[in-house]
Amino acid sequence: MAKPKQYVVEHLDKELENWSKLEYLCIATETAPSSATATPTFHLTSLPQELYDSLPSELTAHQNLHATTDEVIKLTGLKAEEVVLLDPRAEEDMNPEDGEKFGWFVFGGILGDDPPRDRTAELRKYGFTGRRLGPVQMTTDTAVRVTRLVVEEKIPLDKIPFIDFPELRVSKNESTEMPFRYVKGDDGMPIMPEGMVDLIKEDSNKGFSDMM
Ligand SMILES: C[S@@+](CC[C@H](N)C(=O)[O-])C[C@H]1O[C@@H](n2cnc3c(N)ncnc32)[C@H](O)[C@@H]1O
Repeated sequence: MAKPKQYVVEHLDKELENWSKLEYLCIATETAPSSATATPTFHLTSLPQELYDSLPSELTAHQNLHATTDEVIKLTGLKAEEVVLLDPRAEEDMNPEDGEKFGWFVFGGILGDDPPRDRTAELRKYGFTGRRLGPVQMTTDTAVRVTRLVVEEKIPLDKIPFIDFPELRVSKNESTEMPFRYVKGDDGMPIMPEGMVDLIKEDSNKGFSDMM
């Protein structure tokens, strides 16, 4: 049986914002292997000690999650030549053949910003191969979802249905534009983590400069 792909989110913020928590819960659920195995598939790395000690139980309940204060480079079994950094500034886009060459996929655990500030730059120091998922910024859970579709389902990027910058109605008279690209679900709506729409409604009066 092929080795399960490994998804790593290197947490780059001090805190765990509610937005990130919902994204990480969603990633843990979606990357869970279909049959029970002791092997983790989702690594949450570089957690500050305090955050590691107080990770929400909803997250730690996921058996495929391996949380650690160590940096990605220290993960057991990781070989740098088998790792891809998902990087919005990479020269080459991810393609289905990358699923044959690479087994580890690393993402920035960063609140998205508009315009993007290129905080993914902090992860280039490891020297991993970079791949882009097209020119539009995605949320971290979307980036993991799209990577899985390309390397596991072998769907080329240009065949994945996307919704860019969707408008979400946050109250009777107001809507807000999300500055990200999402995968379009079977219901025609952007796929978002459970609870995210409610959180967006709650936060809608704070602006979207530093949220996802
Ligand atoms: C919310 S994005 C952060 C983008 C960001 N504003 C920055 O400062 O780099 C979180 C992570 O998702 C991944 N990601 C998002 N959009 C991507 C894209 N178009 N191509 C490759 N990776 C992407 C990257 O790993 C990125 O670090």
